[in-house]
Amino acid sequence: MNPLSLITFHISLLHVLLSSAAAAGYNATDIILLDCGATSNSTSQDGRNWEADPHSKYCPFNDPNASFSSNASRQDPSVLQVPYHSALIIRSKFTFKFPVLPGPKFLRLYFYPETYSDLDTTTSFFSVTANGYTLLNNFSASLTVLAMDPRPASLIKEYVIPVWDNQMLIVTFAPSPASFAFINGIEIVSMPSVLYAYGSEIPLVSIEGGRFTLDNTTALETMYRLNVGGKQIENKDDTGMYRTWRQDDDYLVASKWVTVYKLSSFSIQYTEPDTPEYTAPKEVYTTLRIMGSDSWFNLKSNLTWNFAIDAGFYYLFRLHFCELLAQVTKRNQHVFNIFINNQTAEKQVDVFYEAQGPRIPIHKDYIVLVGNEAQAKELRLDLHPDQSSTYADAFLNGLEIFKLNQTAGSLAGPNPDLVPRTQPPKLQPGSRKSGEKSTILPIVGAILGGFALFSLLLIFFIFQRRRKQKDSRSFSSKFSANKTSSLPSDLCRHFSIAEIKAATQDFHDRFMIGSGGFGNVYKGIIDGGTTVVAIKRLNPSSRQGAHEFHTEITMLSKLRHIHLVSLMGYCDDQGEMILVYDYMPHGTLRDHLYNTKSQPLSWKRRLEICIGAARGLQYLHREAKYSIIHRDVKSSNILLDENYMAKVSDFGLSKLGPMSTSQTHVSTVVKGSFGYVDPEYYRRQHLTEKSDVYSFGVVLFEVLCGRPPMIQGLSKEKASLVHWARSCYLKGKLDQIVDRNLTDQIAPMALQKFGEVAERCVRDQGVERPMMSDIVWALEFTLQLQEAADKEINDRNATTTDEELFSGSSKNVAKSPKSTSDIASSIAISDQSSGTKISEGDTSSLLLGNDN
Ligand SMILES: *[C@@H]1O[C@H](CO)[C@@H](O)[C@H](O)[C@H]1NC(C)=O
Ligand SMILES: *[C@@H]1O[C@H](CO)[C@@H](O)[C@H](O)[C@H]1NC(C)=O
Ligand SMILES: *[C@@H]1O[C@H](CO)[C@@H](O)[C@H](O)[C@H]1NC(C)=O
Ligand SMILES: *[C@@H]1O[C@H](CO)[C@@H](O)[C@H](O)[C@H]1NC(C)=O
Ligand SMILES: *[C@@H]1O[C@H](CO)[C@@H](O)[C@H](O)[C@H]1NC(C)=O
Ligand SMILES: *[C@@H]1O[C@H](CO)[C@@H](O)[C@H](O)[C@H]1NC(C)=O
Ligand SMILES: *[C@@H]1O[C@H](CO)[C@@H](O)[C@H](O)[C@H]1NC(C)=O
Ligand SMILES: *[C@@H]1O[C@H](CO)[C@@H](O)[C@H](O)[C@H]1NC(C)=O
Ligand SMILES: *[C@@H]1O[C@H](CO)[C@@H](O)[C@H](O)[C@H]1NC(C)=O
Repeated sequence: MNPLSLITFHISLLHVLLSSAAAAGYNATDIILLDCGATSNSTSQDGRNWEADPHSKYCPFNDPNASFSSNASRQDPSVLQVPYHSALIIRSKFTFKFPVLPGPKFLRLYFYPETYSDLDTTTSFFSVTANGYTLLNNFSASLTVLAMDPRPASLIKEYVIPVWDNQMLIVTFAPSPASFAFINGIEIVSMPSVLYAYGSEIPLVSIEGGRFTLDNTTALETMYRLNVGGKQIENKDDTGMYRTWRQDDDYLVASKWVTVYKLSSFSIQYTEPDTPEYTAPKEVYTTLRIMGSDSWFNLKSNLTWNFAIDAGFYYLFRLHFCELLAQVTKRNQHVFNIFINNQTAEKQVDVFYEAQGPRIPIHKDYIVLVGNEAQAKELRLDLHPDQSSTYADAFLNGLEIFKLNQTAGSLAGPNPDLVPRTQPPKLQPGSRKSGEKSTILPIVGAILGGFALFSLLLIFFIFQRRRKQKDSRSFSSKFSANKTSSLPSDLCRHFSIAEIKAATQDFHDRFMIGSGGFGNVYKGIIDGGTTVVAIKRLNPSSRQGAHEFHTEITMLSKLRHIHLVSLMGYCDDQGEMILVYDYMPHGTLRDHLYNTKSQPLSWKRRLEICIGAARGLQYLHREAKYSIIHRDVKSSNILLDENYMAKVSDFGLSKLGPMSTSQTHVSTVVKGSFGYVDPEYYRRQHLTEKSDVYSFGVVLFEVLCGRPPMIQGLSKEKASLVHWARSCYLKGKLDQIVDRNLTDQIAPMALQKFGEVAERCVRDQGVERPMMSDIVWALEFTLQLQEAADKEINDRNATTTDEELFSGSSKNVAKSPKSTSDIASSIAISDQSSGTKISEGDTSSLLLGNDN
């Protein structure tokens, strides 16, 4: 036995001793695993045996013509063979009868919506009942999976069905008219009848002092089961009931300061009868999310999660807690409040006090009603530190959310409405299913709509928000007093329609340089031939009203930055809505990278362009009066002036960022361009500045590799630039995919740094991405590394006579590593502040104490 395993042994012995008062996990009295449609018994990946051929045992009374077995026409690599490979296809009402002991049972239904014997399950709609409860009604597994976030290939629906009298669990499948049903697997596992609080009174959130009795005839549907702050716990690692505990990351509302602790080596002490060992696995209690050490910040903010749900049901919340902080040694030190849907669930929760000690798990249950009138089909959980607490902090270890059946016994919600959502950009173009086509369209629309060089469309709410601001009040009152009055001329120039017509020869096609849904863009010459401008003529029938046109001018004429395309003036004569901008002779950055005849840009010029664009975005994010999120950062929205200076353009999709520090995102419908959209923005529809950072990372890779973000038809790993470049970077092979035009121009150090910045920008999670200001620093650093390396080569090549001439610059070379490392450390520092901190076991021992 090596020393390490001795320690582990020691810990587990300690663990056994500590938990000796509690029973071990749970031994299920009923376990039925049915591999529907399979011809032989088989073993699933978790080592369990699945029974085949249901026709004999559990469903002898059905019409033999009502169903048949079939195999999936293709097997997604993420989908397990057992039980998903085969399915029972059901053409008319079909009933399973499972003999079980009395008590509540987990019923798990496994669905893999694929094609079976030429039957496309996108056309499958059906209902499922169990012991009189309606579990699903006109259900579509295919639509359900499409709406899930992130989207899986298969689906498990889990229910808790109380079985008391008849000792039979009767599950019936009924296809909707002219449709069929299918099922891949059915799992039944018993549970302790006290596990989910049957018969007890549970606090009813929203009614002060209200209680709700969970009677023993109520069935539940598991909506969420999360190992908060930890990794997914697979069913075989549960306490004997084969529950899966997922990660909470996708539901967490991004907060800069949330910290994760993983203290798997800690032992915890389960208690009878409140929290027996089967309640939740130890990993649930030894990992948690906590706000962090900044109490001033914590008191101003919440630890928040958001969950999509169906309206018209009661929900049971079970929150799991375990106090692990070593410095909490008595009552009132670590106290917080719990809110569900903006309503107080409980005030002054003191886990240490309630558990009567550290490292003792407890759970707290609440019931909430989400009425049919609820607009937002979302449940929000907020934890907030209590003022009275010694440590202003809040935390959570685990969470389960169940839906309760309605009075008539139904748990079925409607099929998800796919209309307002758009499809996440697929990294593998080959694997798209036919049913997804319609959801791809909005993106295509966004690409086309966003194509124009200069599109200005700031949405209405900005205007309203800005009314609060003193200096803009004067403008808004001007507008509301007389909407058609001319705009303030001190902000930008007013052009007459005659001037505009003269500049474009009455909007002659020859002058047209772009067009889009908003109207056309023309190149024009004004001021007697001295100035070239770009003129955008808004289509009067476009959705933009005159009001928005005015608002935009007011807003955007205030944005002045050397790296933003600036608005020169406007024309509103004769009902026209025309915007006039500086003309950019070198067109878009994209035009110089690929599919082009123009001379390739040098590496240093590319770096300078990236730095310029990054500065422009940094200004939008931070230095403009309000934070503005561009939303459509891409290489064709970075324009180049006569000196190749980068100018960010097309604020067509821009939004004002969060208005206060407590708000970290704005919720919006996903817009942007294919290949550039932040996957996290996609999943949550929460727009943050980090979404621009992601898109900018894509641009950085475009600049380095000289290829578009998406190339349909390439192999799976190469089609998406982000995917491809990232995997090359991680394998240390970035040099192999660099644009061939740049061969021998890039210093290895500069390439490494550039790759590092780009890779960080395209991280999956916004919190892991740097801020725009960090990116500016890092790119400037890259340029310095490049220049230092170039100089070194020059010096080396210099002849002896030249040496004296270059001695000044040699000194600089010698000096530069020092100054650049200073920059490096400042980058590291600022990165840390914006990242999620992860503490593993011993590294966090200072704060949490050791396990001995
Ligand atoms: C579960 O079964 C195993 C083996 O039969 C036994 O050792 C264990 O004590 C049982 N646990 C409980 C909680 O009954
Ligand atoms: C499949 O498993 C069930 C239950 O374990 C058993 O009753 C049945 O005989 C098995 N069938 C075959 C073909 O092995
Ligand atoms: C099943 O279908 C076949 C032919 O389609 C028919 O001959 C048979 O009677 C049907 N069986 C039942 C029980 O309906
Ligand atoms: C499904 O595939 C299995 C092997 O994977 C095969 O034994 C079985 O016959 C197939 N079932 C049908 C209905 O084709
Ligand atoms: C089932 O749902 C689909 C799609 O939501 C709908 O078109 C169909 O009319 C529904 N059928 C019934 C019987 O409700
Ligand atoms: C269900 O609850 C009712 C009333 O609360 C009680 O009388 C009955 O015994 C319970 N049934 C079981 C099986 O626990
Ligand atoms: C909860 O409060 C937030 C912010 O104050 C608000 O946006 C949201 O609509 C509220 N939700 C409910 C269900 O009232
Ligand atoms: C925290 O959540 C509660 C309830 O949802 C809400 O009333 C409060 O405004 C939130 N506080 C912050 C700082 O977001
Ligand atoms: C769930 O359905 C059962 C049977 O219809 C009913 O007795 C019970 O009250 C329902 N539960 C709730 C919370 O309405």
